[in-house]
Amino acid sequence: MTLAERSSQPLLEIRDLHVAYGKAEVVHGVSFDVRQGEFVVLLGRNGAGKSTILHALSGLIPKRGGTVKFAGTDLSGASARAMVQAGVVQVLEGHRVFHTLTVEDNLLIGTYVRTPSGDRSQLDRIYALFPEIADKRHQSASRLSGGQQQILAVAQGVIGAPRMLILDEPSGGLAPIVIDRILDVAADLCREGMSILLVEQIVEKALRHAHYCYLVETGRIVGGGPAAEMLGSDALHAAYLGKAVGG
Ligand SMILES: Nc1ncnc2c1ncn2[C@@H]1O[C@H](COP(=O)(O)OP(=O)(O)OP(=O)(O)O)[C@@H](O)[C@H]1O
Ligand SMILES: [Mg+2]
Repeated sequence: MTLAERSSQPLLEIRDLHVAYGKAEVVHGVSFDVRQGEFVVLLGRNGAGKSTILHALSGLIPKRGGTVKFAGTDLSGASARAMVQAGVVQVLEGHRVFHTLTVEDNLLIGTYVRTPSGDRSQLDRIYALFPEIADKRHQSASRLSGGQQQILAVAQGVIGAPRMLILDEPSGGLAPIVIDRILDVAADLCREGMSILLVEQIVEKALRHAHYCYLVETGRIVGGGPAAEMLGSDALHAAYLGKAVGG
């Protein structure tokens, strides 16, 4: 993606976001944008505030201040449900799926918020996109491997056809091949027009898939740029000083 394309109107616009847990503010005025069909990654060390930023923008935790605009509408005070209905779906950290339900019922839950009766019409598309869970559709999700559970968690996010899919460290604890699969699917969805906002620790892999990158440090955005330019940059090395930039 070129910088010229980045000058177009943002789909998601975060301005001066502040978030606190009790009295302790951990996000101190963060601003960033994601455009239609753009793949943006937030990079930062453990505890930098990445998940907090995502949870606040998804309406899962309250904001202390700042604005969230999506598709031109101010959704700063929107509930998590209203954000999903607006087309913003977050896949939480740690491949959370319902173990007592079948794979297919887990997928149908992903459709409920938008279509209260459940919408089976999307199932075939999802099984084509994620063949590794297709033949397990009637099994309990507890019988899936960790990698398959993460793929199911991502599929559960994708099935409602969101305009923006937010992925919080989908790589967590998984084999490199599963991480590649998830990032490749995200890039494919992006080419079809979905916007992706990814948080990752696997820096190089994430940058190879993303268009644009922001660096998060102790609750602030301290840098950013086109992903291809960030690979191997001084800013990236400074942000990860003492930590291997691997992937
Ligand atoms: N529920 C909570 N209550 C109080 N403090 C919290 C809570 N969740 C996170 N924090 C604190 O907020 C800061 C940011 O945490 P956050 O989980 O957003 O970081 P992160 O960048 O997602 O880290 P990681 O890469 O380890 O997932 C940390 O100092 C953390 O200890
Ligand atoms: Mg986190």
